[in-house]
Amino acid sequence: MEKFIWKEEYSVGIKEIDEQHKHFFEIANGTLDLTTKENLTKEETIKGLQELGDYAFYHLSTEEGYFDKFKYQDAPLHINAHNKYREAVNEYFARIDDENTDIKKLAEEMASYSGNWLLAHIVVVDKRYTKFFNEHGLN
Ligand SMILES: [Fe+2]
Repeated sequence: MEKFIWKEEYSVGIKEIDEQHKHFFEIANGTLDLTTKENLTKEETIKGLQELGDYAFYHLSTEEGYFDKFKYQDAPLHINAHNKYREAVNEYFARIDDENTDIKKLAEEMASYSGNWLLAHIVVVDKRYTKFFNEHGLN
């Protein structure tokens, strides 16, 4: 499975956010690694998925906190994009409880979906706030 690697071209020009994006990718990679483990238990897999989901949601709220603080005009559209991701994660979690679910496959799917989503989101949506955030002293 291909890994997610943060590159300089993904920088949004804000150190804290770049660090969070890097960490988000790392956790997604960690979850992918987990799925290659032999004798992986359901509990371990769920723990990995929870870690990924928790960090992803924490990251989205960090950005949204700045939207609030600086009264970012494009916040509604941006939050909409975040909410679509949140919904997708909630759907993955709902599938955990279904006993017919292949949990390893689910973890693979959610991790690769998350990494790919973040990648596209950074370059298309996040990069739009760089100038505005920088003007508000966030670098
Ligand atoms: Fe974002």
